[in-house]
Amino acid sequence: MAQRLSIDLTVNGRALRLDVAVHHTLLEVLRDDVGLTGTKECCVVGECGACTVLIDGRSVNSCLMLAVEADGAAITTVEGLATGGELNPLQEAFLDQGAAQCGFCIPGQLMSAQALLDQVASPSDEQIQEALAGNLCRCAGYEQIFEAVRQAAGEKTA
Ligand code: FES
Ligand code: FES
Repeated sequence: MAQRLSIDLTVNGRALRLDVAVHHTLLEVLRDDVGLTGTKECCVVGECGACTVLIDGRSVNSCLMLAVEADGAAITTVEGLATGGELNPLQEAFLDQGAAQCGFCIPGQLMSAQALLDQVASPSDEQIQEALAGNLCRCAGYEQIFEAVRQAAGEKTA
């Protein structure tokens, strides 16, 4: 039987104590144990960025991290961006710019972009491209995604 451990996570502001299998990734625990399926599972080897979440404010591929390694951390998933049912400025900008095509990569794109905007109020195009370099979009909607981040940054600094 798989070994299990008790861990404490704060997920989208909610304190949780979870009993997890030691070999389960943070991605698996968020989706299967916590029930937050907005974070997408795709390559599971750290190449696509679909599973990106924020851990203590830093963007991380949750498929590459064991849940037990996140013990004690504050995690934000895409479900944590909106407040009281209101989309945040970055989500609004993605909508305005038509940045979501099939939508599969968008949660990861949003989380990487949010991590950037939380640290750099007015990022350069180079900084935006660098921050999103690990997030692949099979629909190749990169220009709309970059434009959405520029829009959100402009609103934030206005
Ligand atoms: S599912 Fe984690 S990087 Fe692709
Ligand atoms: S919008 Fe389809 S993968 Fe990015």
